[in-house]
Amino acid sequence: MMKIGVPTETQAGEARVALTPDIVSGLVKKGLGVVVQQGAGESAHFHDDAYRDAGAEIADAAAAFSCDLIAKVRKPSVDEVALMKSGAVYIGQIESCGDDDAIAAMQAKNITVIALERVPRISRAQSMDVLSSQANIAGYRAVIEAAAHYGRFVPLMMTSAGSAKPARIVVLGAGVAGLQAIATARRLGGDVHAYDIRPETQEQIESLGAKAITLDIGESGSGEGGYAKELSEEGKAKQQALLADELAKAHVIISTALIPCRQAPELIVESVVERMREGSVIVDMAAATGGNCRLSEADQVVTKHGVVIVGHTNYPSMMPTDSSAFFAKNIANLLGIMLNTDEAVTLNDLDEDEITAAAQVKPE
Ligand SMILES: NC(=O)c1ccc[n+]([C@@H]2O[C@H](COP(=O)([O-])OP(=O)(O)OC[C@H]3O[C@@H](n4cnc5c(N)ncnc54)[C@H](O)[C@@H]3O)[C@@H](O)[C@H]2O)c1
Repeated sequence: MMKIGVPTETQAGEARVALTPDIVSGLVKKGLGVVVQQGAGESAHFHDDAYRDAGAEIADAAAAFSCDLIAKVRKPSVDEVALMKSGAVYIGQIESCGDDDAIAAMQAKNITVIALERVPRISRAQSMDVLSSQANIAGYRAVIEAAAHYGRFVPLMMTSAGSAKPARIVVLGAGVAGLQAIATARRLGGDVHAYDIRPETQEQIESLGAKAITLDIGESGSGEGGYAKELSEEGKAKQQALLADELAKAHVIISTALIPCRQAPELIVESVVERMREGSVIVDMAAATGGNCRLSEADQVVTKHGVVIVGHTNYPSMMPTDSSAFFAKNIANLLGIMLNTDEAVTLNDLDEDEITAAAQVKPE
């Protein structure tokens, strides 16, 4: 019987689990064996008993890693790869743009690597796209975090003890996380403004009831596959200068601007932070890749020039129950095209489908 293993995530602060009991139950019904490492779902509130009831076997790390398929949230360590068997299929994030020890170790063992970040951004693959499902959660959580650090109201408040104006919230980057941040900030009653380098986002920003900030930088930021591309040095300087007044007026900035496999663009320069009102909040969702504000510090909340700068790098893990449920659903949908479950479960030719062909990390 083909088996899929679900190891416990070992990266610091990671609370998610790759498969949830609900999803395990569906896979077991299709004839797949599931081996869950003891305690793998605890931090996301999915207990061993729930996995057992769903039909999984609870075992140790070695058993979970030595299955035919391995489902993981975060990239494995080289020591974890040592527990995998040759010819297995790894399905998980690989968090790498170039040379990587864990990928090399998997390839040396002839393990097929399915990198969930490389699932193409096409309509048919939307239900398998962990970047979207997790960025959506991150965008929501970032606004909640901003509201918690902001010493004033987000909505307009009129009470007998006085009234408060709505917070002026600027969202930078209107991709998946940014659009969810806009929607969440609007639900909280903020006065929301948003900016993206890709002009096509203007309509999306406005359809969520926010005001689009438009700047004439003189060059296009639209890159391949719907992603942004890096601007010229002149373009970057112009963008920073044109954004400065909009940002200095903000009470809250949620910045989400990323360029795949590049340092995050610097959009909020120090002189802008100096001009912001004391007690304002910047949630820099790009802190892991250098930050849209270079004053942000990865995984820290710091105060600079009186402005609170939040640099968490793993928002989905702060909401591990829903993020694991969405992640697991993405994997189940991907398995739907990877496996033939008509009779005994077998692996399809992964080069045959454009989604699994694109998601594979093959040796150079
Ligand atoms: N399956 C699908 O069809 C599918 C699913 C999800 C996303 N998408 C598309 O993929 C694309 C990327 O989305 P994402 O959320 O992964 O993006 P991302 O996380 O790579 O980047 C976040 C946002 O930052 C913006 N940005 C980058 N540099 C900037 C700068 N200098 N100034 C301002 N903004 C800047 C980008 O344009 C992007 O909107 C979008 O076009 C999105 O609509 C498609």
